Amino acid sequence: MSRRRLLTGFAVLLALLALLPTLGWLHELWLTRSLASAAPLALPAERGAQLQRGAYLARIGNCAGCHTARGGPAYAGGMGLQTPFGTVFASNLTPHPRDGLGGWSADDFWRALHHGRSRDGRLLYPAFPYPSMTQMTRADADALFAWLQTLAPVEKPNRPHELDWPYRSQTALAVWRLLYFRPGQTQPAEIEAPLARGRYLVQAVAHCAECHAPRNRWGALQDLPRMDGGLLTNEMWTAPSLHDAREAGLKVWSEAQLAQWLRSGWSTQGVALGPMAGVIGDSLRHLTESDARAMAQYLLSLPAENPPRAVPKPAPTAQMQLGARVYRDHCASCHGSQGQGLGAHGTPAYPALAGNRTALQDSPLNLLQVLANGAYAASTPAHPRPYGMPPFRHALSDAELAAVASFVRQSWGNAAAAVSELELRRVK
Ligand code: HEC
Ligand code: HEC
Ligand code: HEC
Repeated sequence: MSRRRLLTGFAVLLALLALLPTLGWLHELWLTRSLASAAPLALPAERGAQLQRGAYLARIGNCAGCHTARGGPAYAGGMGLQTPFGTVFASNLTPHPRDGLGGWSADDFWRALHHGRSRDGRLLYPAFPYPSMTQMTRADADALFAWLQTLAPVEKPNRPHELDWPYRSQTALAVWRLLYFRPGQTQPAEIEAPLARGRYLVQAVAHCAECHAPRNRWGALQDLPRMDGGLLTNEMWTAPSLHDAREAGLKVWSEAQLAQWLRSGWSTQGVALGPMAGVIGDSLRHLTESDARAMAQYLLSLPAENPPRAVPKPAPTAQMQLGARVYRDHCASCHGSQGQGLGAHGTPAYPALAGNRTALQDSPLNLLQVLANGAYAASTPAHPRPYGMPPFRHALSDAELAAVASFVRQSWGNAAAAVSELELRRVK
């Protein structure tokens, strides 16, 4: 009897699995039809103003951050994004007729951004953050397109993706989109008030949630607007929660201070490092004063939530002693003997480690990244010459690095779990 039930269950499961691809493609058909009927007319814009707007949006959307290969021509694509499913290569966005967007129309471009479909109908991988950018207004998409078309065309064919089976199949992607992708769209009138504009910039253009929201095991963002913190797809950094005070809850700042942080990435309460330094240095530092204020207003409206945490076990005494010695010899000269941070030339230069959020995050990943590979804040007009911190991966042994990490996490009132050598080796 129970065996028969098992077999029936199995048969139903198989039938469902066979049904999913069909449903996936039906969903695509439906999406395409709804798109064709819903495509609104772009607002007529004066060409000069439209190009200026497009250039600005490209910066705030950090298109070049992904669409430029290291050392390669800007916007010509070729950079590989590592994901747990394989590597996806960003495309050539210059107006080259064969390799780039040369033959594209504004409608084709809108379809890619809003709908995740290439000009030839191919479904695009969500490593391209269209699940966020789908919320852009048509007028903004048109401005982006108009500006991209003014770039010099670069002859550089797109690199084929290197994805594992079954992720490389378009049917798998259609199923994924059936389950997780919902096109959104915003009308210009909806985003005139500062709070609404801030939300639009954070969610649709600067796509903060693509890093700051957790993903499920299929790589889909969960609770998109909440930004509970997530592991980056290359699994090298974690992006902290933006509403948990012990991670990167933003309520330590006033609206004006947060707006200033967004454009500089530096304050005594938190320095943008690693991928976040890139976001600030390449993108957010170009924010206009009023847009930075609007984003700050929205970010401060996120609910402050401090989920309970277990009290960490104290680090072994021997590890704390070793950590204290390493700290005195290698860190105190810059960060102060009590982790209080130090100023130079009358301005704060070295961040405090007492109460420091990189040190206190649940996951020690970012702290270990900083210790092993150094910390380099973005250079911005508001903070032009960051001091920088040298990498310690060669100067200190694994045991010493883990010990100083544990010491920093459990001194001067800091209370976070101790770090083992094993965790450290994973980062290295
Ligand atoms: C996080 C990295 C990332 C960012 C940021 C990003 N893209 Fe992309 N984009 C990609 C990747 C990867 C692809 C390739 C997807 C594929 O081929 O399935 C892509 C594809 C595209 C395509 C489709 C090209 C084609 O040939 O089909 C367009 C258009 C595009 N991006 C525009 C933009 C614009 C405009 C911005 C900035 C507002 C932007 N992207 C920001 C990663 C990114
Ligand atoms: C490419 C991925 C990525 C994107 C996009 C991104 N972040 Fe981050 N962010 C990170 C990572 C990784 C960290 C952790 C490193 C650090 O502390 O700077 C971080 C840290 C932060 C911090 C904490 C800094 C501190 O030390 O307290 C804040 C605040 C923040 N991000 C805000 C934002 C906002 C707002 C946006 C959108 C405008 C955004 N981030 C977009 C990856 C990203
Ligand atoms: C030469 C000076 C110097 C030394 C030595 C140094 N640091 Fe740093 N550290 C910095 C600077 C400067 C920053 C901020 C990055 C910037 O402004 O460019 C930083 C950032 C950090 C951060 C991240 C702070 C944040 O807000 O996200 C941590 C954690 C940290 N250091 C820990 C240590 C530890 C532990 C040691 C000893 C093993 C150490 N540092 C040694 C200068 C130093």
